[in-house]
Amino acid sequence: SGHFTYDPGFTSTASCESKITYIDGDKGILLYRGYPIEQLAEQGDFLETCYLLLYGELPTAAEKADFDMRVTKHTMVNDQMHRFFQGFRRDAHPMSIMVAVVGALSAFYHDSIDISDPQQRMIASMRMISKLPTIAAMAYKYSVGQPFVYPQNSLSYAANFLRMCFAVPCEEYQVNPVLARALDKIFILHADHEQNASTSTVRLAGSSGANPFACIAAGIACLWGPAHGGANEAALKMLEEIGTPDRIPEFIKRAKDKDDPFRLMGFGHRVYKNYDPRARIMQKTTHEVLAEIGDTDDPIFEVAKELERIALQDEYFIEKKLYPNIDFYSGITLRAMGFPTSMFTVLFALARTVGWIAQWMEMIEDPHQKIGRPRQLYTGSPQRDYRTLSQRG
Ligand code: CMC
Repeated sequence: SGHFTYDPGFTSTASCESKITYIDGDKGILLYRGYPIEQLAEQGDFLETCYLLLYGELPTAAEKADFDMRVTKHTMVNDQMHRFFQGFRRDAHPMSIMVAVVGALSAFYHDSIDISDPQQRMIASMRMISKLPTIAAMAYKYSVGQPFVYPQNSLSYAANFLRMCFAVPCEEYQVNPVLARALDKIFILHADHEQNASTSTVRLAGSSGANPFACIAAGIACLWGPAHGGANEAALKMLEEIGTPDRIPEFIKRAKDKDDPFRLMGFGHRVYKNYDPRARIMQKTTHEVLAEIGDTDDPIFEVAKELERIALQDEYFIEKKLYPNIDFYSGITLRAMGFPTSMFTVLFALARTVGWIAQWMEMIEDPHQKIGRPRQLYTGSPQRDYRTLSQRG
């Protein structure tokens, strides 16, 4: 029947009320709890941002110390979890491992969770924020055939993660503070983005009362796609394929061709019809990281900047308001830090976990909350009678 509003892709449907993140896509503004993303990324740190997203206010010094301590307390994963990793092929995509292992957290902690109890919700949340870096680093270590590195709780969130990824038992490992700071910034930029596909997935999964570990695993699965979090991986692969600035026009031409499914990865956004403010900070961070590792003339960075310059002058991109999004530059930065392409979306998932959790909590606390259950416009066959196999010939 026709009385439902048909809105494929939910381009004009608000699925919830939210106080967490504000985006003005025309102006290119992004606020977490009212604070501009630029200020949080330049002046704050990731755990402070987590606190802000979860509690609605920036922490006082005492609150921050307490929060950091609570997050740090849960960095270890149950030793039994090591066995999960061993079940995967070494060449398994780390996102497949993430979906599986984060979902499996529910097998370890599910029974202890009563989601109607705010305190237990917060404990589950702390567990995920703390354990995601450990699990992500284990996925990486497994893929390169190196032993797992246990968390080091005296380090910052980002520094600990770098160490778990890149330290090996046979050598001293010193975390590079410039890279740790850059990674922390990348985490801040990815922490939340209102009702994007993965966040909506988490809310929808959670609307049935499913446990939060399972809901976050659902979000990770959704994030994996190349139109969403997988775009950072796809963008870097594209830049590598382009290789040199002289080949850019060829790819621009393909992106504009209606008969060619190729798109410029890392370009365009459902909500931003102006420069993605995260992309601007990301580009600066890329500079900082490349300068630190002494690779200021990384050819891929040159290709990216030139591609951006050419696209932003092209009528097609101007008319459709297609600008670089966060994924355009993040891949170059992560690659410079030493992460393989397959880890890019994993890092996005790690950082977005707090946003998913904050949104999940807000949903649970919302008195209007109902199970998410869209309607449809049925376009299939009208009712008909069953015919036996012999009647069907
Ligand atoms: N390259 C070439 N053309 C594009 C691109 C692009 N990257 N993005 C959109 N268009 C065109 C598209 O063909 C369409 O043209 P027309 O109106 O003539 O059919 C028009 O622009 C509008 O695109 P749309 O697909 O209807 O817009 P959407 O809001 O459904 O899609 C998007 C948004 C992000 C999926 C899309 O822009 C895209 O596929 N971009 C490339 C992938 C990407 O970078 N994704 C990361 C998004 S930001 C981080 C995240 O969310 O994870």
